[in-house]
Amino acid sequence: MENEKTYLQNLILNRRIVRNYIDSDKPYPDLSEISKLTIKIPTAGFSRGIEIISVEDKKNIQKLAIFANEKNYLDKGFSKWISNSKAIFLILINEEAYHERYKMMDKENETNSTNWSVPYWYVDAGAAMMNCMLLIDETGLKSGFLGSHNMDIPSIKSLLDIPEEINILGFVTAGIEDSSKMVKKNKIYKKKLVHKEKYEK
Ligand SMILES: Cc1cc2nc3c(=O)[nH]c(=O)nc-3n(C[C@H](O)[C@H](O)[C@H](O)COP(=O)(O)O)c2cc1C
Repeated sequence: MENEKTYLQNLILNRRIVRNYIDSDKPYPDLSEISKLTIKIPTAGFSRGIEIISVEDKKNIQKLAIFANEKNYLDKGFSKWISNSKAIFLILINEEAYHERYKMMDKENETNSTNWSVPYWYVDAGAAMMNCMLLIDETGLKSGFLGSHNMDIPSIKSLLDIPEEINILGFVTAGIEDSSKMVKKNKIYKKKLVHKEKYEK
């Protein structure tokens, strides 16, 4: 049928950030392929500065929830999210890998990587984040994303042995959605974001 959506279109259309997971000891889907497929992304200059750590150890997930200030979130009346995750994937940015790569011989005429108007390490990290969320949704679990802006970064780095110079984009979470807390489908906003042929206001 002409208007039938493809598998990928459905995966993208149905994905939304899920922020409430149930605590369940039931077996959950195998997530072992997710990390390496997440970082199967193009990286600027093939710098390969995006890395990932997956955490499925329950005790470490509890600690990450503390370092992500989940308590503040619960105090505001929100449901458990980070601490009930089955897995947390940390998207890591090695900015130096980009500077190193662009200093190399074949890149000597390129714009210096310290002057880029759009720092490509964030672009590549976003691509990895999207891969990760879609791969999680494909397993039947629900994905979420918590940015690192309100986290205890030194404690997270210490727990997971992440080197000082590596930046953490945030947590991509995987869990079983609490259906009693299910949020209604995405609203369609009127804001014009898609343009064709020319930019239209
Ligand atoms: C870079 C980035 C940072 C985000 N940080 C947070 C966050 O710290 N906490 C949170 O609850 N959601 C966070 N989100 C999720 C957004 O709020 C989410 O994209 C928005 O609510 C739309 O959700 P949808 O994907 O379900 O349509 C973040 C998303 C992005 C892309």
